[in-house]
Amino acid sequence: MIPHVLILYYSRSGGTKNLALHVARGVDKVPGIEPRIRTVPEVSATTQRTEPPIPDQGAIYCSKEDLRDCAALALGSATRFGNIAAPLKHFIDDTADLWVARTLVGKPASVFCSSASLHGGQESTLLTMMVPLLHHGMLIQGLPYSLPALNKTQSGGTPYGASHVNVADAPTSDAGNPLTQHEAELAEAGGEQLAKLALTLMDRGETV
Ligand SMILES: Cc1cc2nc3c(=O)[nH]c(=O)nc-3n(C[C@H](O)[C@H](O)[C@H](O)COP(=O)(O)O)c2cc1C
Repeated sequence: MIPHVLILYYSRSGGTKNLALHVARGVDKVPGIEPRIRTVPEVSATTQRTEPPIPDQGAIYCSKEDLRDCAALALGSATRFGNIAAPLKHFIDDTADLWVARTLVGKPASVFCSSASLHGGQESTLLTMMVPLLHHGMLIQGLPYSLPALNKTQSGGTPYGASHVNVADAPTSDAGNPLTQHEAELAEAGGEQLAKLALTLMDRGETV
């Protein structure tokens, strides 16, 4: 079976979803490994709303097996008050069994996010997203300044992970506004380098 990089994201207005698609393109450039794009359902504060098991459109919901069997994880979130979005945190908080079994130890991971404003907490979101992954024993991979776009970007893209500034935020649409060239390049490069690292670790018998 071909190993997969799990690209797991939560997006409401499309910015994070667009990044996820570019991360997937980067993974797709690497032979011998494939992207698997998954999302998570909305959560309700009252816990009274339920979602159908298969969404009407877009990526399907992530299963525990998608995460358990991945060779690497790229985790993407919409920024919520400078932090990870609740639906994604809800999914992660249900992974204690994987933590107990040490399932994700030594697997590489990266993070990405979308926010409405340039200084609205992208870096705190990305750093916060790393914390549970470190508890799981994952190896976090950022973006190196050897990528020219990281020095040139006037919008998203950080050494902590790919990002997008969704300036034309449109809550009624899930299309998102287009990524800038630099944001797209960095998301793609992140996916490619994560896939390569996963294969390298697997070749050395270091993971999965
Ligand atoms: C409850 C809430 C909190 C938010 N907090 C922030 C924030 O702290 N900083 C920011 O720049 N944008 C914030 N936003 C805007 C979203 O991060 C922005 O719309 C982003 O594009 C969402 O990602 P998405 O397009 O993938 O859904 C917030 C939006 C909501 C609904």
